[in-house]
Amino acid sequence: MTFVVTDNCIKCKYTDCVEVCPVDCFYEGPNFLVIDPDECIDCALCEPECPAEAIFSEDELPAGQEPFVEINADLAGKWPNITEKKDPLPDAEEWDGKPDKLQYLER
Ligand code: SF4
Ligand code: F3S
Repeated sequence: MTFVVTDNCIKCKYTDCVEVCPVDCFYEGPNFLVIDPDECIDCALCEPECPAEAIFSEDELPAGQEPFVEINADLAGKWPNITEKKDPLPDAEEWDGKPDKLQYLER
């Protein structure tokens, strides 16, 4: 079991989540973060930290978010590790809550 970063992180990337992860298993792309499912210890600490409510347990994913399981696993192997919070993306507030942002994911 793992936690998964989902659609609403895209174009927001608040990064509060990385500060609390005890195993540093977040990986950073241009406008999205992912969790490495092989490293996540399922502690649930990150879930309440995300201002965009974009993090869910794999077995409690909202409808339609299933593709993000594979996306997290795939991109975790390609992107660099991130362990410290940084500024969110400039238009994070504007994009927070917009639906169907997967089309904007930069890989
Ligand atoms: Fe890290 Fe725990 Fe979140 Fe997994 S559930 S990504 S181990 S903080
Ligand atoms: Fe993304 Fe939320 Fe972390 S917006 S970067 S999952 S705090």
